[in-house]
Amino acid sequence: MTQVEICCGVGGTGKTTTAAALGVGHALAGHRVVVLTIDPARRLADALGTQTLGNTPSRVPLADAPGELWALMLDRKDTWDKIVRRFSSDADRAEKLLENRYYKAVSTRLTGSHEYMAIEKLHELVSSEQWDVVVVDTPPTRHVVDFFEAPERVRRVFDHSVISKLIRTSNGLFGFASKSAMGVFHRLAGEREIEDIYELFNLISDLSHGFRSRHSEVRDLLRANTTTYWLVANADAPQRNNIIGFLSALRERDMYFGGFLLNRCEADPGRVSQLGPVPAPALNSEQTDTWSEALERLLRRQHTRALRHQAAGQGLSASAGDAPVWMLPELSGQLRATAGLSDLARCLPPLAAASISPVSD
Ligand SMILES: Nc1ncnc2c1ncn2[C@@H]1O[C@H](COP(=O)(O)OP(=O)(O)OP(=O)(O)O)[C@@H](O)[C@H]1O
Ligand SMILES: [Mg+2]
Repeated sequence: MTQVEICCGVGGTGKTTTAAALGVGHALAGHRVVVLTIDPARRLADALGTQTLGNTPSRVPLADAPGELWALMLDRKDTWDKIVRRFSSDADRAEKLLENRYYKAVSTRLTGSHEYMAIEKLHELVSSEQWDVVVVDTPPTRHVVDFFEAPERVRRVFDHSVISKLIRTSNGLFGFASKSAMGVFHRLAGEREIEDIYELFNLISDLSHGFRSRHSEVRDLLRANTTTYWLVANADAPQRNNIIGFLSALRERDMYFGGFLLNRCEADPGRVSQLGPVPAPALNSEQTDTWSEALERLLRRQHTRALRHQAAGQGLSASAGDAPVWMLPELSGQLRATAGLSDLARCLPPLAAASISPVSD
């Protein structure tokens, strides 16, 4: 049975980074894992070797890992094209749609299409039964629920009854348009464009059955008890408002929430008073004092920030019924190599227990 882990969160919180780190952790724990990444930042792409990857998994070398780490980067267009070929009633219609000049623009711009493609790819990876774990990075969104609402949104767009209304030819072409509106449209667009758009709708209507039947499989996968949702939050801006919406959306859909991954936390330098004076042999006593004071100020600031992040973690946990929180440190420029990801992985499941755990009765 393949376990699925989905990293959600608002834009820029570290979804791609934590997804990669979860993947590394699973490989270190002996699992055969694949990470589906979406537009990784360049350094991370280098770390995962995804710069040259296509839409299929490639092995990422990982020293001393008893398991296997694989990664792929979502290619939206390729994934859409595959769907068209799979859902079209025949190869001829599929090729016609793929060649339609409006198809490319419409298909990749549909609201939710990016998310839908990720889910489609996830479905493909799970169906292959090759993996112990599939880790999914999610596309940048303003609302964390956008990800699992995508299948429903896309299904509605491809709903046969809606499309057939659009292309009903009672008055020549599009049934929805009044004659005068069509007159304006003809003048603006021209006969050739209208033909192409009509063909686009007609061919797309062919896909609607495929989308409908796929929808229930995808919905089951997103709700399976082997699918876990992690919410990635930035330690400096944990965005609690978003979290309430996210959790209630998960609950409404019977989806399993694993906990919070609080990213970019300050590591506590320890008790500043216990650090003692800082030796600076080449300095006179006045300079040494200045040195020590400056360093102490820095450490105090770090300590205060670490406490603030700890409190943010506790606040998150409390806002979600004492949910577990994993605190991930801020790394300085080490993400270029898998070593940086291994450091993060050691703070994450399955290698680490939560640093803020549910309160037991
Ligand atoms: N713990 C960390 N330490 C240091 N840098 C980090 C850490 N986590 C993330 N970053 C950096 O922050 C930036 C944003 O991270 P990432 O790309 O993972 O966020 P994201 O949520 O996937 O963003 P988007 O919503 O745009 O897809 C990247 O440059 C990444 O290298
Ligand atoms: Mg990302």
